[in-house]
Amino acid sequence: MKLSRILSNQNGVSRQQANRAIASGKVRVDGEVCTDAAREVSRFQGVVVGDKVIKRALPAHYLMLNKPAGYLSATRDPVHPTVMELLPPEIRADLHIAGRLDRASTGLMILTNDGTWSRCLTEPEVKLPKVYRVTTLRPIEPHTAQRFAEGIWFAYEGLTTSPATLERLGPNEARVTILEGRYHQVKRMFHAVGNQVTSLHRERIGEIALPRDLMPGTWRSLTTDEVRSVPAGQAAITGNVGRPVVT
Ligand code: URA
Repeated sequence: MKLSRILSNQNGVSRQQANRAIASGKVRVDGEVCTDAAREVSRFQGVVVGDKVIKRALPAHYLMLNKPAGYLSATRDPVHPTVMELLPPEIRADLHIAGRLDRASTGLMILTNDGTWSRCLTEPEVKLPKVYRVTTLRPIEPHTAQRFAEGIWFAYEGLTTSPATLERLGPNEARVTILEGRYHQVKRMFHAVGNQVTSLHRERIGEIALPRDLMPGTWRSLTTDEVRSVPAGQAAITGNVGRPVVT
């Protein structure tokens, strides 16, 4: 919301009075004087006029979880446990998942309450690499890497996937890097070449890698550098979107 609107939303304050207060240098956004009435202020930023708090900053949360198999990427489910149950109850309700994993899939999952930031992780147009370790039912054919690099036609969406890379690690094992995160994308790509995924583990999203010592079912806050590594992260750190909080 624009700064002038935040001030004039208070009882009895006109837009003109708000603009005057801003121009006079009395208004601070996250502790810094702001004289731009049109400045967009996020829910993660605080606004004060003189000593009076007009709007408190909501803490921004950026977490990574090592998802164990069997947990659903959902907020609640009547049958299966959900990833939310693995997170601190006091912030759980505010978080959303930035890139789901299937119930049987494991590995890196990122959760946040900052929608602007998470869109930069998940929007296919951003083309942030997502790296998966995959095992397959049948041996991986030599032509699979070429097929993935050319893109696979997804009839349901009516599109061809962006070029993906496949590094063969063994007869039935590979590291696959995709640039989007479409529904069951990796499984559907293997299906398209006549194979089947038997296990899928996400190792990395962009620059954010799952650390070896983060045990399945446990989580930690992202570091400032990890938040910053996402295209919107710079703004998040400098206060235009939100600020990471070590939870
Ligand atoms: N691709 C899949 O098929 N499943 C996942 O969970 C993630 C990517």
